[in-house]
Order: sequence, then C-alpha cells, then structure tokens
Amino acid sequence: MTNKFDVLASTWDQKSIRVEIAQAFVKTVKEKIANIKEFDLLDYGCGTGLISFGFVEDVKSITGMDFSEGMLEVYNQKIEEYDLNNVKCEKHNINDNHLPQDSFDLIVTSMTLHHIKDTADFISKANLALKPNGYLAISDLDKEDGSFHDRGNEGVEHFGFDKEQLSMILKQNGFEIIFYENVYIAKEYYPIFCAIAQKSNN
Ligand SMILES: C[S@@+](CC[C@H](N)C(=O)[O-])C[C@H]1O[C@@H](n2cnc3c(N)ncnc32)[C@H](O)[C@@H]1O
Repeated sequence: MTNKFDVLASTWDQKSIRVEIAQAFVKTVKEKIANIKEFDLLDYGCGTGLISFGFVEDVKSITGMDFSEGMLEVYNQKIEEYDLNNVKCEKHNINDNHLPQDSFDLIVTSMTLHHIKDTADFISKANLALKPNGYLAISDLDKEDGSFHDRGNEGVEHFGFDKEQLSMILKQNGFEIIFYENVYIAKEYYPIFCAIAQKSNN
C-alpha cells in the first residue's frame, strides 16, 4: 500500500528546511561523539538518506531502515550513483518488528520519532540493537501545538517532544543522556532538538 512518504520521496530533498535540519543534526553528532571511524551506523526512518549520506566518509558502515518503499528507492539510487559499498538499506517497520540485536555503535534518527506511536518501544528496541556503550542520537521537534506540518497531521503521532518526558523515557530504557539541546529553528518558530544518549545497561 502506498503511504504519504512514498508519494513525497521523489521531491523530498528539494525542501531546504529538510536539508538544513539534517545538516544541523549531522554536524552536532559529529561534534559530540568522538572516534566514529570504526562505527556501524543505523539511520532509522532514513527516508532518502539526508542523514546517512552525511556520515558516508566518517564511519565504517551505514544501514538505512524505513517502511516507505518510495523513500528506499531514492536511497538506493544514491548508493548506485555514488558507487558506495559500505551503505545499504532495508524495509523495516518498527511497529511490527525488532531490530537486529547488538549490531550498531550508533543509531541516528531524524524527524521520525514523532511518527512512531510508542516512543518507549522504539527506544527500548534501539537499546537492544546497540553494542555495549553504543549511542542513540535523536533529532526531532520540541513540543509544538500541531501546526508544524503544513499538509495536515496524517501519520503524526506526537506534536513534538517535551525534554523532561523524553529524557525520562531514555533513562528508563537503559540510556544516559550526554547532550540534549535545540540545534535548529525551523520556519523561524519551531525548535528542533538533538538528544544524544549512551547505552548504560551493559
Ligand atoms: C519526516 S521523514 C524523515 C526522513 C529522514 N530521516 C530525513 O531526515 O529526511 C520520516 C521517515 O520515517 C519513516 N517512518 C515513519 N514511521 C515509520 C515506521 N513505523 N517504521 C519505519 N519507518 C517509519 C517514513 O517513511 C519517513 O521516511
């Protein structure tokens, strides 16, 4: 079944706000986490790869996961175009499936968490998917009033996130927070945060 992301995929990268949010997130993660050269990275809700391809020269391997076939098609076109052999993507719906366990050093997810109904379930699955001391980096909207999405709120499960509540969910699911700050203002009004947490329950 085609979803709204399948429809948006071919023109996704044309909106500068999406590119700028991705750039701010990638920059912050690279500044805050040292020595990522040997990292296996998972980009969850990878879309067309705006986050993934920002790490392509910095880590050992990149896996993109997303439930939208349209997004994955664009992602695969980029792998082919840039002739990359350390990047792959696969179809995955976090609502129905676990992640491969003990497999990644860093999980990044940008503007995806507000589309996932059960935040704690995602964070707990991410924890199991990380190797010991691995990192989870989340970028998303700070709490908003539901007016961020111009085309309506179909598929939007959360109107952003409250810092205290999300921090608590991270801590309850085996993470220690090492960074949590707003790193971009979208449309001159909506703060976008970056939270970086380290797996602490080894
Ligand atoms: C707003 S887009 C962000 C895409 C990309 N991270 C970016 O920054 O450009 C959200 C992405 O999450 C994916 N997504 C939403 N719900 C999902 C789920 N339950 N499982 C897997 N992917 C999901 C969508 O298909 C979409 O590509």
